[in-house]
Amino acid sequence: MSSTYGHNLKVTLFGESHGAGVGCVIDGFPAGFRPDMDAVRAFMARRAPGSAPGSTARREADAPEILSGIFDGHTTGSPIAALIRNGDQRSSDYASLAAVPRPAHADYALSVKTGGANDIRGGGHSSGRLTAGLCFAGALAMQHLAAKGIIVASRIVSIGGRDISGETDPSGLDAAAKETIEAARREGDSVGGIVECSVSGMPAGYGAPIFDGVENRVAAIVFGIPAVKGVEFGSGFAGSAMRGSENNDAFFHDVDGAIRTRTNHHGGILGGVTSGMPIVFRAAIKPTPSIARPQASVDLRTGKDCELVVKGRHDACIVPRARPVVEAAAAIAVLDILLDPPPVE
Ligand SMILES: Cc1cc2nc3c(=O)[nH]c(=O)nc-3n(C[C@H](O)[C@H](O)[C@H](O)COP(=O)(O)O)c2cc1C
Repeated sequence: MSSTYGHNLKVTLFGESHGAGVGCVIDGFPAGFRPDMDAVRAFMARRAPGSAPGSTARREADAPEILSGIFDGHTTGSPIAALIRNGDQRSSDYASLAAVPRPAHADYALSVKTGGANDIRGGGHSSGRLTAGLCFAGALAMQHLAAKGIIVASRIVSIGGRDISGETDPSGLDAAAKETIEAARREGDSVGGIVECSVSGMPAGYGAPIFDGVENRVAAIVFGIPAVKGVEFGSGFAGSAMRGSENNDAFFHDVDGAIRTRTNHHGGILGGVTSGMPIVFRAAIKPTPSIARPQASVDLRTGKDCELVVKGRHDACIVPRARPVVEAAAAIAVLDILLDPPPVE
């Protein structure tokens, strides 16, 4: 089992939801970069528990302690290690889960894989809490990209099956979406949604055909985010219903003579290689598995079917908190790709 991503920029996530802490080790980050640590903390706060409507009541400061790799305000080129200590654990909430797995969570599958040796508390290493370390690494990557004119941005385009792509509120949620989440919470239930992410300013010619393409590398890290169950690029699944004449993006020279496309159904990637247009993808996030209603499960001790009532504190909708995580994942993937050998001049 490996929790390491990347070819050039290797990001390892460690920790468990209810252990001493979570964090990351970033190997291969370019030397001499001066991160804005206030901006790193502000970015991590967007993901932290309690940051969004419908969010869990668990409180965590999510303050990263930098153990190595940043000296005198700049990156040294050696591995950067960051630890985010856990504070607000309530492991007793999970005592019963060791024997009765939560439907849609990792409890059952991981206990089979490990012969029951996994840390069950709060989802252990499979918990959404692991994304705090991903956000730390992503915040550094995003700042490094921004210094090169490459900007990562995102928006929530749907909540509970309802299109909110026209929404401009900074929270990313309109009043109806907030009510959809609240209604789910009141009913002891949860809802999912879709985050769209774009990376603009990425030069053309990066990536590779077939197995090592930009889609492959972005999808690999985005699928590493717990609860992501679908990723599509450009026109994605909808593109399969279009005609070629509609889906093809016509080339033209812009005012500076650069080759661009009039539309971006290809999502900035042609044959696994960047085209110079923004990389655009969408991540489908499922409803939070842990819901307050009683659910059918199985008791692994008795070998009988049973009813499970999940305790603990859970988001009725994790999409607003997952949004910065998607940005972080995109930034890490794109910086990793940018550290490949440059295109032939
Ligand atoms: C930021 C974030 C927070 C999450 N919080 C919770 C939570 O409070 N309760 C829960 O059951 N799942 C939560 N999840 C989702 C589970 O971790 C995830 O569904 C589970 O590990 C199973 O993995 P899978 O859905 O990818 O198959 C969260 C995910 C993210 C990204």
